[in-house]
Amino acid sequence: MNNVSIKTADEIEKMRIAGRLAADVLDMIEPYVKPGISTNELDRICHDYIVEEQQAIPAPLNYRGFPKSICTSVNHQVCHGIPGDKILKKGDAINIDITVIKDEFHGDTSKMFFAGEPGILVKRLAEVAHKAMWAGIDLVKPGVQLGDIGHSIQQLVEQQHFSVVREYCGHGIGRKFHEDPQVLHYGQAHTGMVLQAGMTFTIEPMVNAGKRQVKLLPDNWTVVTKDRKPSAQWEHTILVTPEGHEVLTLRAEERQQAE
Ligand code: MF3
Ligand code: CO
Ligand code: CO
Repeated sequence: MNNVSIKTADEIEKMRIAGRLAADVLDMIEPYVKPGISTNELDRICHDYIVEEQQAIPAPLNYRGFPKSICTSVNHQVCHGIPGDKILKKGDAINIDITVIKDEFHGDTSKMFFAGEPGILVKRLAEVAHKAMWAGIDLVKPGVQLGDIGHSIQQLVEQQHFSVVREYCGHGIGRKFHEDPQVLHYGQAHTGMVLQAGMTFTIEPMVNAGKRQVKLLPDNWTVVTKDRKPSAQWEHTILVTPEGHEVLTLRAEERQQAE
């Protein structure tokens, strides 16, 4: 189907390994996400773990000129935040987005963390973004259309009077970081590409507390909300299986919940 690769059994096994490694990085970094740490330190810890412990490659590093190994998007930053001197303070919300390459295949996943107790709005925003991602994931099986996924995510978010960012989307993934198809987080049911077994792609809705509009900072990477209200995002890498789907980046905490 046009440019969408269908993974072989061998490639799927490699995607499972890459996905597991990316998930493990999020588990590893969790205890470090505390008030007082800088995003640069989080980057260094993840970089060293990926390179030394996992013998894998942090995909963002030098990707189209991105200067760091992970993305750290704090509060009103929507995505692609560049780690730097910024020190987390009590109540900050941060999305950490990890992509690793192992044996030529990519695994891509992100989650929300809080440095200390978050405010009530940000906590609800992160919960809604998480539910929205899962509403999309739960639909994945052969025969379902991409528009069905986008529609369910958009519905869930807008019912809560939050908004879905349109400029960035999920993506096919495999040997390449970003492959076809584009996986929009909004849209109409019964439209778009029909899923088939062997496809691998991410679902990664960005949900804004205020308006959906975003702007790019002069660093040419960091995306922020125009109204400076907070934004939240979660991401998983998904395989379409003959029976439904497999979440390739599922973490230990989520594996327990699913049982
Ligand atoms: N991990 C991001 C995604 O989910 C992409 C980051 S590109 C980077 O697609 F260069 F900023 F790392
Ligand atoms: Co992604
Ligand atoms: Co990502």
